[in-house]
Amino acid sequence: MTFEKVCSLKDVQEPGSLRVELDDVDIAVVRFEGNVYAIEDLCSHAEVPLSEGDVEEFRGAPTIECWLHGSCFDLRTGEPTNLPATDPVSVYPVRVEGEDVFVDVAIDDSLPAAASN
Ligand code: FES
Repeated sequence: MTFEKVCSLKDVQEPGSLRVELDDVDIAVVRFEGNVYAIEDLCSHAEVPLSEGDVEEFRGAPTIECWLHGSCFDLRTGEPTNLPATDPVSVYPVRVEGEDVFVDVAIDDSLPAAASN
């Protein structure tokens, strides 16, 4: 694993998201209810940046909502929780050290990935 610093905690609203780029990968760094997530910043339905959507609980899951058609994606797994999107997006491991947020994009991790702050 190769974690690289992508931002500071204070750069991301709680709840909210921030678009960052790491190794040519666009990532939404998301804060929600004390956790920090990193999710691919591209809706799997029609290539809209997810970082422009709302961060909220939906059907019991922490999600980010695509603003164009309303699909929400589980921040832990990248799976869509509702139509029209049917394909998952990538999620990445996150580490928080002090105020610094680190993400590893070397591994396309389909397992739950989050860090507490
Ligand atoms: S573009 Fe995201 S749900 Fe359609």
